[in-house]
Amino acid sequence: MSDRILVAYSTKYGSTAEVAEAVASTLGGDGHVVDLKLMKDVTSLAGYRAVFLGTAIYMGHIHADARRFLAAHQPALQKLSVALFALGPVHNDASEWPAARAQLARELAKFPWFAPVNVEVFGGKFDPEKLRFPFTLLPILSKMPASDARDWDAIRRWTERVAKISLETLHFA
Ligand SMILES: Cc1cc2nc3c(=O)[nH]c(=O)nc-3n(C[C@H](O)[C@H](O)[C@H](O)COP(=O)(O)O)c2cc1C
Repeated sequence: MSDRILVAYSTKYGSTAEVAEAVASTLGGDGHVVDLKLMKDVTSLAGYRAVFLGTAIYMGHIHADARRFLAAHQPALQKLSVALFALGPVHNDASEWPAARAQLARELAKFPWFAPVNVEVFGGKFDPEKLRFPFTLLPILSKMPASDARDWDAIRRWTERVAKISLETLHFA
């Protein structure tokens, strides 16, 4: 089997794309062959040894493309080493993190067959200038200051740790 790794992501405002790029460049720097793609552009998982999926949480839900990706690629994902990260908390405020983890767990529970080798919540980025209708109507969002809680060192460390686990996992499919 090839050692090619896919990093597939979905994003509304672009911050998950930047994290997916950091994951892909960490993997590439460690000598892996990596493809970086938007989830909606992935037609097949044939030829991959492992998959890193990246998405973000909005109003308690992961991006619709991530839900569609999981549903569309179920048979292949069940045979591969898959890791998933989701951006959520936009402050280093302790209360946001357990809430985001619970939201992600609820979302992934809708795919009971999904057994990733690792799931992680990363800090996200928020920019009120980028909000689109109908979220612009919500003062709790439109009045919230811009913030960026992405921890690039933690992202790189997670990627290296999870790549090791993913590539060591044996598959008998
Ligand atoms: C409209 C909106 C709703 C959000 N809802 C949640 C949420 O329910 N839970 C959470 O943890 N983060 C939430 N966030 C934070 C996003 O997950 C974070 O901004 C993320 O970095 C967005 O990713 P993107 O730039 O790739 O679209 C929300 C952000 C926005 C703009």
